[in-house]
Amino acid sequence: MKIVTNPREMQNISRSLIVGGKTIGFVPTMGYLHAGHLSLVKASRAENDFTVVSIFVNPTQFAPNEDFSKYPRDMEKDEKLLVEEGVDYLFYPSATDIYPSGFETYVEQEKIAHTFEGEFRPTHFRGVTTIVSILFNIVQPTKAYFGQKDAQQCAVLSRMVKDLWFPVEMVVCPIVREEDGLALSSRNVYLNKMERQEALILSKTIEFAKNLIREGERDTNTISTLAMENLEKPVSAKPDYFLVVKYDSFESVEKLEPGEKYFLLAACSIGKTRLIDNAIITV
Ligand code: PAJ
Repeated sequence: MKIVTNPREMQNISRSLIVGGKTIGFVPTMGYLHAGHLSLVKASRAENDFTVVSIFVNPTQFAPNEDFSKYPRDMEKDEKLLVEEGVDYLFYPSATDIYPSGFETYVEQEKIAHTFEGEFRPTHFRGVTTIVSILFNIVQPTKAYFGQKDAQQCAVLSRMVKDLWFPVEMVVCPIVREEDGLALSSRNVYLNKMERQEALILSKTIEFAKNLIREGERDTNTISTLAMENLEKPVSAKPDYFLVVKYDSFESVEKLEPGEKYFLLAACSIGKTRLIDNAIITV
């Protein structure tokens, strides 16, 4: 695996691969890799001639009160995992190379980016759309791989790719979970023993809501209210939202319609750690 820190060098490598008729699969990450990230790498390896993984803890997607400075990092372990996966290039730029002094151009989405997660983290998706645009322009991937774990991020980025005509195919991969149901996340490392147990409330509440729907409940207000009551139960839990939105447009709805596909979205702090989870359901 070749480690590339210089953006221009990465761009030149990608350009020569493309000129040689090769396909490039790209997995953008913030590092501290787990089996969720590696599932994206495996998908990319299976479908492309070359795989590029980026590790960049992107400052612009963290608000001042968030965990940027203490976001977990373990470059040595990440490098080892990526070598084991057979990754071709690890792109590992510095913050000053990506955001040099004088940087002032951002990519801002108007609608999806300002709902749900965007209400609780108002500047978050502006940071995500900006960094992913920059990374796409450097890496120039044929296909880019993202996890359904961050369902709204996928919706925001798919819209951006469409609106701005990025010549990239978006691939969304399923959520990888621990055996007991907790969705893998780099942030799970913040949880103490009790919180780790209580964090199961997210996946359990999603199951609970699925059951309500299976039993015939179609009113999304009722589903959200009952699910929020459930999310609130553990001592360490402070839920932000439980929502049912349309699968394609990420719009909220009042009544679920037969044959339609929806996302169940949960966001909840467990102690000081904010976690998200989701599931897809067809009614
Ligand atoms: P990060 O949180 O490191 O996640 C990188 C990718 O891994 C994302 O596409 C995310 O959805 C996916 N992922 C995380 N946990 C997963 C799980 N349990 N199962 C499957 N996939 C999972 O998301 C980001 O970084 C950043 O916002 C980024 C896109 C890199 C832009 O900075």
